[in-house]
Amino acid sequence: MNLILLGPPGAGKGTQAKRLEESFGLVQISTGDMLRAEVKAGSPIGLEARAIMERGDLVPDAIITAMLANRVGQADAANGFILDGFPRTVPQAEALDRMLAEKGIRLDHVIELKVDDAALVGRISGRYTCVQCGAGYHDTFKTPKTIGVCDNCGGAEFSRRADDKAETVAARLAAYHRQTSPLLPFYGAQGKLSAVDGMAAMDIVFAALSSIVKP
Ligand code: AP5
Repeated sequence: MNLILLGPPGAGKGTQAKRLEESFGLVQISTGDMLRAEVKAGSPIGLEARAIMERGDLVPDAIITAMLANRVGQADAANGFILDGFPRTVPQAEALDRMLAEKGIRLDHVIELKVDDAALVGRISGRYTCVQCGAGYHDTFKTPKTIGVCDNCGGAEFSRRADDKAETVAARLAAYHRQTSPLLPFYGAQGKLSAVDGMAAMDIVFAALSSIVKP
């Protein structure tokens, strides 16, 4: 089972991709996480991407598609993958179609997480992660059982993303509407698109996604 989760920043793509990964043995492939790893490593891609990401703009298609080309064919993705944050433009979607056709891989579902723009700034500005294990939390919607201690690994150090400031979120949202939302009719025309209410509670969103992913 290979799928794409589509939705604006803060829609819950990462949250739900991790849950689908655990429950269905799929692999989450997040271009945002891959880029943040490049930035952290100070690689040539990271050096180019850093300022673009901090402005809330999209990294050029050529960089992204080259970065992703090998990833979908790797052994751990053989059982199925969840693309989180890719594709984000029509040229990226066309490149993905070509990539999958060359490798003989089928794309089963494209699922849109539908959310109200107004909710997204609150979701994103409250988000933080454990530095040690990467577990995600939120000031209001998902607090650790003991505040300041990670439920998963006991770590006590947390970080917030550089692009999660309110003004950058507005730029990311504008980029979504301008460059990514044309993917909805693109995948609609392929008969692969379905939608889930991303405003519901996390467990309800997960149940709705599971009913699509389960054969
Ligand atoms: P990326 O890392 O992909 O970020 P994004 O798409 O902006 O999405 P987010 O990670 O912010 O949100 P999410 O939908 O995963 O939400 P989450 O589950 O965390 O991209 C970052 C940047 O990298 C881009 O701006 C761009 O510059 C570059 N980039 C990446 N891919 C690219 C590409 N393909 N092309 C070009 N450039 C690219 O949830 C958010 C918060 O809400 C969490 O705290 C969570 O706990 C909470 N939450 C989730 N679901 C619910 C719910 N149902 N109810 C209440 N709270 C919820």
